[in-house]
Amino acid sequence: MAKKETNAKMEDIISLCKRRGFIYQGSEIYGGLAGTWDYGPLGITLKNNIRNLWWKTFVTDREDMYGIDAAILMNQKVWKASGHVATFSDPLVECKKCKKRFRADQLENDKKCPECGGELGEARQFNMMFQTHVGPVQNDESISYLRPETAQGMFVNYKNVMDSFHPKLPFGLAQIGKAFRNEIAPRDFTFRSREFEQMEIEYFLKGADWKEVFEYWRKQMWAWMESLGLSKNHIHELEVPAEKLAHYSKRTIDFEYDFPFGLNELYGLAYRTDFDLKNHSEASGVTLDYLDEEAKERFTPHCVEPTFGVDRSILAVICEAYTEDELGGEKRIFMKFKPALAPVKVAVFPLLKNKPELVKKAREVYAALKKEFGAVMFDDNGNIGKRYRRQDEIGTPYCVTVDFETIEKDNCVTVRDRDTGNQERVKIEDLLNHFKKAL
Ligand code: GAP
Repeated sequence: MAKKETNAKMEDIISLCKRRGFIYQGSEIYGGLAGTWDYGPLGITLKNNIRNLWWKTFVTDREDMYGIDAAILMNQKVWKASGHVATFSDPLVECKKCKKRFRADQLENDKKCPECGGELGEARQFNMMFQTHVGPVQNDESISYLRPETAQGMFVNYKNVMDSFHPKLPFGLAQIGKAFRNEIAPRDFTFRSREFEQMEIEYFLKGADWKEVFEYWRKQMWAWMESLGLSKNHIHELEVPAEKLAHYSKRTIDFEYDFPFGLNELYGLAYRTDFDLKNHSEASGVTLDYLDEEAKERFTPHCVEPTFGVDRSILAVICEAYTEDELGGEKRIFMKFKPALAPVKVAVFPLLKNKPELVKKAREVYAALKKEFGAVMFDDNGNIGKRYRRQDEIGTPYCVTVDFETIEKDNCVTVRDRDTGNQERVKIEDLLNHFKKAL
């Protein structure tokens, strides 16, 4: 039986991600661009599987959620009203000797350079928003920013959705999209990137109900992490202390995951009060409120925000799935993805690639499975052992081999299970049902 290596080394995981086409360094052939990552063919499939599952769980399957997709570039007034222009910053220090820059709050000693031992200068606040200009003229009026969170796209569309759909409280707006932060020190593979993706919900409610709604979303977030296959033992809640709360939050819980490089924030759950709608209403002059028809009163809704990083979800799923064991006396690495997330569900092999009758039959089986399950791979490269190892490393739950007995004797194929290595013979006509159940 497979044994999970709890202390999987990050270098091994990064190396597998590159080798097997999950994640590559951004702009790699030019030496990279710090804090950017490119998803390869399997990485984007894993990402889509996670995004689709999230959208289904939190939008499609619910009655109280409205999905939107707002522009990344927004009027600079959005970021003034939200408080990001004034406060979305980290403390930056520079070494007087080697000139390297660090985040002061992440240093053990904020006086001494961790690289060269030189003296560090005074910390100054560094705003993390990427600034750009919209249009051909570059002046103060044309300033815009690449959004540092998707959340504001939902606050500024609150009235639009109210006017189109007239939802009753509580209800939520949900969005998946890119966010950008000019992190001082991007690190730990994709964990702290400068360009990343978020899946966020702004859930609007009556202020008096916030504690109950907060608890409700806390449970939903645990259930989501379970559906990704993350072990409860690897997740820890952190009550963010008052002095560390973001400028908009009255209460935040971070869900931290045991990454191989340490316990670190995976997701967050924040009570944003009526901070955002109130500020946008004041700054824009547009009323952003709610009419309670029964109580005949108007008020600004409050908001609980469950936020999920897409890239951190992928990283946690990869770290959780990465497993080393011994099978048949040989060491192997396999990715123990839940079948719903696995980029490839089934791989089909002819035992030998130079036997046309085997290839023909294997192609027929492949076509039938692909029609049903989509993410099915045909592989005739190298010997069967190598093909199994390749599929294990990309986390394919099942491999199907067509051999001489298939054709000459029983019309059965060998189905091999990724996690146990166990093999069973299954009739070709039963294969679709077999995998419908197994997957
Ligand atoms: N709207 C609230 C918000 O943006 P946050 O805690 O700053 O809150 C939310 O970010 C989530 O976005 C985090 O829990 C994390 O999953 C992800 N995230 C934040 N910064 C990131 C970065 N530099 N690289 C990758 N993911 C990041």
